[in-house]
Amino acid sequence: MKMIVTGGAGFIGSNFVQYEVKNHPEDEIINLDLLTYAGNLESVKPVENAPNYRFVRGDIADREFIFRLFEEEKPDVIVNFAAESHVDRSITDPEIFVRTNVVGTTTLLDACRKYGIKRYHQVSTDEVYGDLPLDRPDLFFTEETPLHTSSPYSSAKASADLFVMAYHRTYGLPVTISRCSNNYGPYHFPEKLIPLVISRALNDEEIPVYGKGENVRDWLYVTDHCSAIDLVVRKGREGEVYNIGGHNERTNLDVVKTILKALNKPESLIKYVTDRPGHDLRYAMDPTKIETELGWKPEYTFDTGIPVTIQWYLDNKEWWEHIVNGEYTKYFDNMYGKRLENA
Ligand code: NAD
Ligand code: TYD
Repeated sequence: MKMIVTGGAGFIGSNFVQYEVKNHPEDEIINLDLLTYAGNLESVKPVENAPNYRFVRGDIADREFIFRLFEEEKPDVIVNFAAESHVDRSITDPEIFVRTNVVGTTTLLDACRKYGIKRYHQVSTDEVYGDLPLDRPDLFFTEETPLHTSSPYSSAKASADLFVMAYHRTYGLPVTISRCSNNYGPYHFPEKLIPLVISRALNDEEIPVYGKGENVRDWLYVTDHCSAIDLVVRKGREGEVYNIGGHNERTNLDVVKTILKALNKPESLIKYVTDRPGHDLRYAMDPTKIETELGWKPEYTFDTGIPVTIQWYLDNKEWWEHIVNGEYTKYFDNMYGKRLENA
C-alpha cells in the first residue's frame, strides 16, 4: 500500500515515518511536509535512504499542489499530522492555525473525495475536549465527551475533526480520528515543555513555569502514540474516534522537578511566569476503547520514558543545539521577555 504521511518532518510525524518505514517494509511511505519552523529533515535521517521512503516538500493547504500529487501518486492511505501545533503561538497568531489545521485538512479531504482513498486518518488531540477540573481526579475524557475548546489551536483542531466526520457522513469517506494526550520523546521541538526544560537546564538557563505549575497533563511516550495510530489506520473501524493515552498524569511542576533531579540541576532554575491566557487545567484520557477493541498497550510509563528521553537529548545535542541557537532565540525572547519581567 502507498501511504502519504503529512507533517512527517515534525515531532510525532517523524517518529511515525520511522516506525512505518521500519515495521512495514512492504508499504511505500511518502513524507509530505512544508518544512515550516517545526519541520526538520534531520528528524528522518535514519530512514532517508530506505527503499520504501520518499520526501516531498509541499503545503497541505495548496489545493493545486495537493490535487496534482494525488493524481500522480494515487495514494491508498493518508495520515494527516501536518499542523500548527503550539498553543502559545496560536494565542499570538491564530490565522495560520485556521489555514493549516482547518483549510489544510479540508483540502486533503477534497482530494480524497476526488481521487478515492482506502483510509483517511486524522491525527487529533485531547485538547478538543477542553479541560477537566483539578479537584475531580475521577473524571476522564472519553470519545463521547463533547468538544469544548479553549485555545485557537484546539479550536482549529476540533473544527478539522468536525469536517472529517462530516465528510464521512455526507460523502461516505472512509475516515478515522485518533485523539492523543501530550507526547514526549526524541525529536520534540524545544518550544514545548519537556524538551524546553531539558535543553535549558543543560545550559543552566531559567525555566519558565506558567502560573503556579499546578496544571496537569497526561504524558505519553511518542512511539506508543505511533503504535496506536498504526493500529487505528490498519484495524480501526471507519467513522470511529479512538482516544489514546497511558494514564500518566503529572503536574507541570512535577515534570520540571523530575527532569531537574535527573540532570542533577538545582530547582532554583525554576522561574514562575505570568500564566498562559485560557490555560487548560487538566487533561486526562480514557483509552479503554482502543485497548479493548484493538488491543493497544503502551510500552512506556512516564517513569520509564523520561530517562530514555533525557538520554536521547544528551546523545543528540547537535539536533537541538542548532535550533536553540538559531531563529528560536528570537522566538524565546519575544514569547517570554514580557512574562519574565511581569512575574
Ligand atoms: P510539530 O509542530 O512538531 O510538526 C508539525 C509538522 O507539520 C512540521 O513538520 C511542519 O513543517 C508541518 N507543517 C506545518 N504546516 C504545514 C503545511 N501547511 N503543509 C505541510 N506540512 C506542514 O507537531 P507535532 O507535535 O508533531 O504534532 C503533530 C500532530 O499531532 C498535530 O496534528 C498535532 O495537533 C497532533 N498532536 C500533537 C500532540 C503533542 O503532544 N505534540 C498530542 C496530540 C496530538
Ligand atoms: P506544552 O508543551 O506547550 O503543551 P500543551 O500546552 O499543548 O499541553 O505545555 C505543556 C504544559 O506546560 C502546559 O500546561 C503549559 C506549560 N508550560 C510551562 O509551564 N512553561 C513553558 O515554558 C511551556 C512551553 C509550557
